[in-house]
Order: sequence, then structure tokens, then C-alpha cells
Amino acid sequence: MRGLVAIPDKPHSTAVAEVPDPRPAEGEILLRTLEVGVCGTDREISEGVFGVAPPGRDALVLGHEFLGVVERDGPGFSRGDLVTATVRRSCGRCDACAGGSPDACHTGDYSERGITRLDGFASELAVESAEHLVAVPPSLGRLGVLAEPGSVCARAIRHACAVGERQPWRAERALVVGAGAIGMLSTYFLRLDGFEVWTAGRSPRTTAKAQLAEACGATYISTADVPLDALVDDVGGFDVVIEAAGDAQVMLDTLALLRRNGVACLLGVDGHTRKVSLDGRVLGVDTILQNRALLGSVNAHARDWEAAVEALDRARERWGDALEAFVGLRVALDCFDEAFEFQGVKATLQFGEA
Ligand code: BGC
Repeated sequence: MRGLVAIPDKPHSTAVAEVPDPRPAEGEILLRTLEVGVCGTDREISEGVFGVAPPGRDALVLGHEFLGVVERDGPGFSRGDLVTATVRRSCGRCDACAGGSPDACHTGDYSERGITRLDGFASELAVESAEHLVAVPPSLGRLGVLAEPGSVCARAIRHACAVGERQPWRAERALVVGAGAIGMLSTYFLRLDGFEVWTAGRSPRTTAKAQLAEACGATYISTADVPLDALVDDVGGFDVVIEAAGDAQVMLDTLALLRRNGVACLLGVDGHTRKVSLDGRVLGVDTILQNRALLGSVNAHARDWEAAVEALDRARERWGDALEAFVGLRVALDCFDEAFEFQGVKATLQFGEA
């Protein structure tokens, strides 16, 4: 069968190749791939700066944003069911993983499908254990391909709220920095949770991303027009800030964007070596005297996947046309480079019809 493979550590090695047909082991389910989303992590693997091939091999099958259909009945699933699959697998030797929380793995020796030591789903067929599959309701359909980035946002919001709720707080105003898939999904999920949301991006206010953010009732801010510190002066600070732009300076700056008891959660990764800086009083005075918190979040627990699928379906009911427009480019596997270069919210690789 055909799949999209890359040699981690080797820049520009990504190619369509013949890969062995998967053979389901006991308890595993054979899946037919419908669609696989492409994200910044896939681009980093493709650029040779991230990812690890499975043991004894050079090449890794990419793809961790999976939507597929069950090809043969298996435990808890029937042929024809729409499914997605979680990404991270246990390190096999820590309490967090043993307890079903590889998203909080203590050792860091976890594996991730399509990223670290395990092949991904960007191939015509795939296999997965039933325990790692998540049902996608037929009403959500092809939008189920957004479940993986959605799960990352669901975890971040759950954690930010858990930190906020450690003390009396006002879960009213949220700022999302970044208008890619993670920023946009965070915007929609926060709106579903009843937050008043501002979404800040580099694109001008006239672009499709601005319109998508505003379609769910958020206010889009172009940082070229309104610097974030000016926004804070205007709005009065935020209870939740989600950083999804992947800029370490902006991540540090989020501490200054919070109001009393506010929580900032960092999702975008920035691996550049550099110093970032902050007015010492923001850290040394405001963060302490105003009980502010800053945390990072990665990956997702199974409960976040369930929450994401449920939230996506609710978002579809309220803002269906806009959610459909999140996937701005669908291309055949051979045109994968177009998906990697796409500048809109989400591009996907198409493998087949349901
Ligand atoms: C994925 C996560 C993964 C992280 C680090 C992200 O792109 O969405 O599931 O944990 O990369 O590998």
C-alpha cells in the first residue's frame, strides 16, 4: 500500500512510498484511512528537526491527525464505524502511563504515532488497538479529522480552568494568540464554554482567518494594528490566555496580559535558541500579588479526545459552515507538498471515501 514517509533527522526526505500492508494482531482493528491532517509537527519532522523512526528503521510513516473507518469488526467497533485514534502510547514504566495518562508521562519515554518510534496513519490502511480508538459520530463526518488538534485544545482549556478554579476566579474573558488550527479550535471551544473571546493573529482583519474567528462570536485582533499590551489597556486583562503562535517572547508576555487570578496556557512550540525578556515587575510583583499562573500543555488524555469530539459536534451545530471552512485544502497523497505549504487553518491528505 502507499503511505507518506519521512526520514527523521534528514531534511526534505518526505515522500510517497510503498509500505507493508498492516496485519492486525489480536485485539487490533483494521482501519481504512479517510483523511489525515497536516500540522506544524509534521512540517518539523519533514524539515529534519523532530521525530524518531521506529527501532531498526530509518523511515517513519507520518500522520497523527487521523480519520478512518473500521474495515473489519473488532472489540467494541463494527465495520463502517468512523473513528479517530489517540497519538501517545505508554512508556511502560511510570504510574501516569499505567494509570491511562501518557499525556502526563513521568519518564518522557512515551511513543507517539507518526511522531516518535511508531508509524503514523498516513497510509491507505492502518491498525490500532480498540482501546486507543475514539468513535466519531456520523453527524461530525469528515470534520472528525479535527479531533486530534481539538483534543490538544480541550486538554489545555481543562487544565487552565482547573488551575483557575483552585481559588475564586472569573472565567469570563479569554485571549487566544495565534489563528492556526490550535488557535482557532481553542477560540471555538472557549466560546462554547461561554467565554468572551479575543483571537489575535498576524493576518489583517479582512482575511478569511479573521472571518472564521468572528463567525463564532469572537473578536479578531490583528497584532499589526493593535499590539497586545494596547488590547489589555482597552479590555482590562484576561482570565485565560492561550498561546498558540509558537513564539517564546509572546509566551512570556502572556503573564502581562492576565488580570487578577488569570491563567495563561502555552501550546505553541518554539525551539529557537534565544533569550526572551520581560519587565521584572510583571514577574516579581504582578504575578505574585495577583495570583497569576503560567503553564504549558501537550498532547491529550482520552477524556480530552471524547470532549473534543463532543465539542466539535456542538460547534458544527452552531457554526457549521465556519467549522467546515477550517479545512481549507484537501489534497491527494501525491500532492502532499501543497498540504505542507498551506497557510490556512488546516490542510489534509485524502485517502478515500467513507
Ligand atoms: C501533537 C501532540 C504531540 C506533540 C509532541 C503535537 O503536534 O498534536 O499529540 O504530543 O506534537 O510530539
